[in-house]
Amino acid sequence: MSREQKEEIKRIISPERVFFGEPMAKHSTMGVGGNAECFAVVNSLEELKALLNFTSERGVEYRFWGNGSNVLVRDKGVRGIIARLGEKFDFVEELRRDGDDVHVSVGAATSTQKLVRWAAAEGLMGMEGLAGIPGTIGGNLATNAGTEAGAIGDVVDELTVVTKEGRELSMKRQALRFEYRSLKIPGTSALVRAVLKLKKSSAEEISARVEEAMKRRRKNQPVGEMSLGCIFKNSGKTSAGLLIDEAGLKNVRIGGARVSNVHANFIVNEGKATARDITVLIGLIREKVREQTGISLETEIEIIGDE
Ligand code: EPU
Repeated sequence: MSREQKEEIKRIISPERVFFGEPMAKHSTMGVGGNAECFAVVNSLEELKALLNFTSERGVEYRFWGNGSNVLVRDKGVRGIIARLGEKFDFVEELRRDGDDVHVSVGAATSTQKLVRWAAAEGLMGMEGLAGIPGTIGGNLATNAGTEAGAIGDVVDELTVVTKEGRELSMKRQALRFEYRSLKIPGTSALVRAVLKLKKSSAEEISARVEEAMKRRRKNQPVGEMSLGCIFKNSGKTSAGLLIDEAGLKNVRIGGARVSNVHANFIVNEGKATARDITVLIGLIREKVREQTGISLETEIEIIGDE
């Protein structure tokens, strides 16, 4: 990025929210990642549209960042702009009720766990499948995050996005293609808001389900350790974690990265892991699982930046 382009970014986004050479390790639940050439916190639709106009006209690379719980930035960092939506995009509000159906508007920067707790307290059913899932609603929508109890795509009624050219667009559920751990919207740059359709129910019942899911998670997953959640997608109905476990890979280490002994589809950072430690360990896991089962595991996390 040229000096002029950097100056231009500071005119589009308030300069106290623009950081050059920002270590992405600070923004990752794995505590790992090289520097972003530019990291910017976008705090209004106007800033967002102006930024996308700029990137599209100048051909500057960019991507959006949620909570850093599903993306690994390689050690040499990433060129262009990493944009995070600020507090203006962090909101939850009830829009309307239709009998038992309750439509709720939620900003993309809202923490998914905040929404799960809010829905439980309001007695609104539909978010329990996401209990314990890290990240923001925007990030969870983009990856159609979920558990066996349901994914976020199941409750989406409408989505507001901003296109690559900076145009705001709302799409109804029928126009959205949610698949296992993915949402495909051609030409879209940023998800800014979702309308979710939840169901009126009893707060006690929902809270009990959420508590149960959290308990299961604490037992089956390395909660509290630095990780990116599941590294690989399941292969059809077969759990990638089970395959990795059966290949005898629990506790295998490369540098500061280790295959979790709690759930083998998690890699944990023991403190000093580099992105390279993690990518080498990912390669080793794929190779061993392929050798033993013939199955080629695909990563669920996204890996970006320069090696
Ligand atoms: N298993 C093992 N060893 C392991 C891991 C799992 O034997 O190391 C066995 C379990 O005992 C169980 C089976 O494999 O019999 C399935 O395990 P689990 O219930 O943990 O489900 P999963 O398919 O491995 C999926 C999601 C998780 C989600 C859980 C719970 C994917 C890739 N993973 O895991 O999502 O939390 O179900 O619903 O879809 C994530 O997306 O980041 C994630 C962690």
